[in-house]
Amino acid sequence: MIEVRKHGQRTMEAGRGGMKRTTFILIAAVFLAGAESGAQSFMTDVPGRVVTSLNGKWQYLVDIREAGYNTRAPFYKNLTPSSDGDLIEYKFTDQQTLDLPGDWNSQSERLDLYEGLVWYKRDFTYAVHPGRRLFLYFGAANSKAEVWLNGQPLGSHEGGFTPFQFEVTGKVQDGPNLLVVAVNDRRAADAIPALQYDWWNYGGLTGDVLLIEAPETFIDQARMGLVKGSLAEAEVSLELDGPAKAGKIVTVMVPELSFKRTVSTDAAGKAALRFTGRFRLWSPSDPHLYDVAFSTDEETLRDRVGFRSIEAKGERILLNGRPVFLRGICMHEEVPQRRSRANGEADARLLLGWAKELGCNFVRLAHYPYHESFPRLADEMGLLVWEEIPVYQRIDFENPKTLDVARNMLGELIRRDANRASVIIWSVGNETPIAPARTKFLMTLAEDARRADGTRLVSAALYFGDYKDSVVTIDDPLSAALDVVSVNEYIGWYYPWQGAPKDNRWKVVVAKPLLMTEFGGEAVYGNPGRADALNSWGEEYQAELYRRQLEMLTRIPSLCGTAPWILADFRSPVRSQLTFQNGWNRKGLISDRGQKKKAWGVMAEFYRQKAREEAGPGKVLK
Ligand code: GCU
Repeated sequence: MIEVRKHGQRTMEAGRGGMKRTTFILIAAVFLAGAESGAQSFMTDVPGRVVTSLNGKWQYLVDIREAGYNTRAPFYKNLTPSSDGDLIEYKFTDQQTLDLPGDWNSQSERLDLYEGLVWYKRDFTYAVHPGRRLFLYFGAANSKAEVWLNGQPLGSHEGGFTPFQFEVTGKVQDGPNLLVVAVNDRRAADAIPALQYDWWNYGGLTGDVLLIEAPETFIDQARMGLVKGSLAEAEVSLELDGPAKAGKIVTVMVPELSFKRTVSTDAAGKAALRFTGRFRLWSPSDPHLYDVAFSTDEETLRDRVGFRSIEAKGERILLNGRPVFLRGICMHEEVPQRRSRANGEADARLLLGWAKELGCNFVRLAHYPYHESFPRLADEMGLLVWEEIPVYQRIDFENPKTLDVARNMLGELIRRDANRASVIIWSVGNETPIAPARTKFLMTLAEDARRADGTRLVSAALYFGDYKDSVVTIDDPLSAALDVVSVNEYIGWYYPWQGAPKDNRWKVVVAKPLLMTEFGGEAVYGNPGRADALNSWGEEYQAELYRRQLEMLTRIPSLCGTAPWILADFRSPVRSQLTFQNGWNRKGLISDRGQKKKAWGVMAEFYRQKAREEAGPGKVLK
């Protein structure tokens, strides 16, 4: 019998001795049909729910030839020979396991370079509770997942970085259960991202796998935040799911504001309310979070919410009505010392901690959605966040299926993180070549983002523009659809300086805030190299590049922030200069062993100055 422990909840004895077997004909009948047709949209605020973790060791089989789909003995049935003559040519065993959540590349030498199909299998026992609904939730699976429970298909999901779930009410047996998941991370031209990208393709069940119990009618989503443009009025929107969702009384509470109000849901199970208050506004220097609760007669859902406003006005970004300069850094969701995908709170604390140490108030979580612990931790640590979907460089912009995958991923990201005060910018892409189909594709995503969440800014990291006679011209038609014009530029690395840095000028055809979302160059830690030789991969050259960049950047009137590329060296299959790169992109300010390079000091000093300026004389801004 496996003891299934809840996330911070009562330990539940699972197994034969559990609750007497109960079938929910009514509930099962109503909900079974829905689950077959693929992953359904997931419930939000998972940490606030009754959760049983299925993380930990799963058995697995690598299936290069996709033999596991064969109809005679498919892997998802986990068959064993019925007689001495019965030949079954696969077997899951404890001799071959992967630890979840986590990519497979970092857990086995022979999977480091693997790209393809892996079958995961987990047995678990569960004590089914009468009158409760049950959902199987995946935090992320890179990049396509198909799920079977007790030999029956639950459905599939495409998109390697956002949550999905299946209702399993009446499908999880009161006793032993067999869960099999096929994950395939093979790149594809019609996928998001597509074939060519400059980061390691970490495959697998990289997010949490959880069973979530909920009442028959539960709160599917509870959003709360300031009304756009207001510092004194908040709005709440609620969505319930279940047979009694209409006319349900929901009590909304914010104890610290002595706020408590009930509201009744409409026929669709939805309700909304607004309330005024004297909010202690969330900001990097005061990341105040309020305990909030949403109660029905069947459950109470709790969350921690910050109240802040973010706007773009003229060429400025306003946080709580005041101009803010984004002292940022880009990162990948990777722990370089472990050569693995970051996969939880401890990893998030390491990477975000480095950003705070650098003096940042802003992080660009490039180029895909990260584990939910990142925005939650950023809420607590006081970091503003740019979140992004991997519409990266060359995408099949003419393909409706590709657009669907992108729209779905963006919607899932916004749904998951709508209550995170730290998140201020949704990015719909990175370095996509200007062309009519591409601009239409990205404008569709920008509209989706605004429709799903009108309170945050929308941007995309644009390719560097025209660079002639020391003048950079940014003239991308997509800019019209963005609140912030963000640009990746590598003057001093991929292209040489034209004239002295201080004489370089930037012309952005639209009068909007300009955010430098990438600049930098490579250096191997401990290799001084030559300050004048880019291909010495030296720290001197990298530090000098940063000094020159800042000489130019600080002279751009519309500049509202900088986010150098990148916090730490990261693994990339396209970096094959074996003396210096050896499969690593060395643009980190920190080496793959966590050592700070000389350029770190240049950026840290710049951010110290910026913080002092913002704080005003005699004070220090965090
Ligand atoms: C690009 C891209 C990054 C890449 C970087 C580089 O701007 O956005 O993903 O790693 O440049 O070339 O190092």
